[in-house]
Amino acid sequence: MKKTVISFREAKRTGRKISMLTAYDYSMAKLIDEAGIDGILVGDSLGMVVLGYENTLSVTVDDIIHHSKAVARGAKNALIVADMPFLSYHISTEDSVRNAGRIVQEGMAHAVKVEGGIEVIDKVRAIIDAQIPVMGHLGLTPQSVNMFGGFKVQGKTNEQAAKLIEDAKLLEEAGAFSIVIECVPAEIAETISKTISIPTIGIGAGSMCDGQILVNNDMLGMYGDFTPKFVKQYRKLSHEIIAGVKEYMEEVEAGIFPEKKHSFKMDSKVVDEKKKL
Ligand code: KIV
Repeated sequence: MKKTVISFREAKRTGRKISMLTAYDYSMAKLIDEAGIDGILVGDSLGMVVLGYENTLSVTVDDIIHHSKAVARGAKNALIVADMPFLSYHISTEDSVRNAGRIVQEGMAHAVKVEGGIEVIDKVRAIIDAQIPVMGHLGLTPQSVNMFGGFKVQGKTNEQAAKLIEDAKLLEEAGAFSIVIECVPAEIAETISKTISIPTIGIGAGSMCDGQILVNNDMLGMYGDFTPKFVKQYRKLSHEIIAGVKEYMEEVEAGIFPEKKHSFKMDSKVVDEKKKL
């Protein structure tokens, strides 16, 4: 069944937990979608996990559009949310609406995600006025990494916690359809989830959020054995991939691959003709 922003709201109303994962290309989006996921985020984490940058700050609107298009071709049922990258919603409301519009029109996303609370609330309102659904993102917002002095848990002081709750209320009032809450103490995420009527999607924010999101490359173990504290590794695909590549190399070297069944044959008549030459 097709997932929409309405199904997200409905899930919160009925208490059904929402599952989301990131995806950045056609094949992975197709697999994740086939598994029945609620939502796929074309996250600006693609800067780190696909493009090899140190953080998300170098990702552009064109990068997001390029990957979102591929995801949209692969995913038939999941709600596709694409990140608005750094500086794409900070300069002016006009610029923000234009960038969000491109992500929906060219990137074929159903919604955009924006980091921050009060600082960006006028941009959030303008994007929603243009009929583009917005997902908020609070807590450890990676585009603020230089302001935070690194990737650190947020909301540990009373002051920070109060701001997070206020920002969540503001996003709800502005019309956001859900909010990602990243790396904050579980108690704060629980309070926010109980305070607002739109679903919270947690990552490193405990079990009381209305849904969860992870970076697919982390939960599938594409990076060897390293996992951040908040990630559960459901598979170790890096081991599988390296083992598969090594086996292939060994078989090529030993002449085991390709076998006859992997090769094409000439028509027997053509072979006879060739022999006559
Ligand atoms: O870019 C991303 O992948 C994200 C998730 C970590 C929520 O914003």
